[in-house]
Amino acid sequence: MKILIIGGAGYIGSHTAREFLDRGHEVTVFDNLSSGLRQNLFAEEAFVYGDIMDYPALLRAAKGADCFVHLAAFKAVGESMVAPEKYSRNNISGSVNILNAAAEAGVRYLIFSSSAAVFGQPEYLPIDEQHPVHPESYYGFTKAEIERFLAWYDKLKGIRYGSLRYFNAAGYDVRGRVTGLEQNPANLIPVIMETACRIRPELQVFGDDYDTPDGTGLRDYVHVNDLAAAHVLALDYISKHDKSVTVNLGSEAGFSVLEVLDAARRVTGREIPAKVVGRRPGDPAKLTASAKLARELLGWQPHHSDLETLISTSWNVYKGFARGA
Ligand code: UD1
Repeated sequence: MKILIIGGAGYIGSHTAREFLDRGHEVTVFDNLSSGLRQNLFAEEAFVYGDIMDYPALLRAAKGADCFVHLAAFKAVGESMVAPEKYSRNNISGSVNILNAAAEAGVRYLIFSSSAAVFGQPEYLPIDEQHPVHPESYYGFTKAEIERFLAWYDKLKGIRYGSLRYFNAAGYDVRGRVTGLEQNPANLIPVIMETACRIRPELQVFGDDYDTPDGTGLRDYVHVNDLAAAHVLALDYISKHDKSVTVNLGSEAGFSVLEVLDAARRVTGREIPAKVVGRRPGDPAKLTASAKLARELLGWQPHHSDLETLISTSWNVYKGFARGA
């Protein structure tokens, strides 16, 4: 099929583009390179430099596409709480442009990168798709809102969608084909990698008094290659069954900040200084996914989401930037 990957030069987008290419699809990437990188583009794909706020450009790029994959969003939870306008504009208005362009151009399918942030503080674990949606961050709110738009455009315009609620995306392509570093990362594993490289002096551990075995926050890390595979499987499903689907994507394992840090010290052989500081507002103690529905409906299985692979594939990319011994 002809796939337009919006945000396809970014971290998850580039891995997803790679997966669609590997599975024989025709890929065009649409990206404004605000956080995406030219370095993340592949020779086999077409590239359109454009912004999702530019509706005519989006519509031109949409012509002839069978499917949109939408990953063009800001994703810093903390920033979304102090600059909601930025998230309204890009994540909400930009997504509405994407939906309208899909409707106007007759695009039949849309795969949306949603997030575990739609759930807010968990009421029970593991979190399945029936778990109530009540986001705690404005970022999570934007994802939950777009899911509601998707349901309406399905009903009114016949656009079938796959909404993929990623838990904690991490790692790099196991075959080393994506090498662009995320800019100003706030997520745990890239921050640990930057500390291992001495790009930053230390890891700040956000709280060690949570109700978890070692007191630090516990998360469900899922490898970006596994997430990428889910996008292709979701398109297979919605096109075969003519039916939309919303699924959680996680490894179903939970690792604490200290477990991730220990694994990183082991894998990298580097010192990685760390200091416990106060809790980060809004952080739940534990988050783990039930990926049962993704397994049952999509036939999805994580293959690379063990801690060792998450860290070693990241280190393969970061170690080129390491300073000092
Ligand atoms: C959040 C969102 C997730 C979103 C992702 C995108 C929630 C609940 N989750 O994940 O949906 O897709 O951001 O950015 O909103 N930590 C430290 N020090 C650091 C960084 C992180 O101790 O410098 C800890 C955090 O407190 C947390 C864990 O590491 O316990 C993971 O944090 P992070 O990687 O930022 O992801 P989430 O906040 O879980």
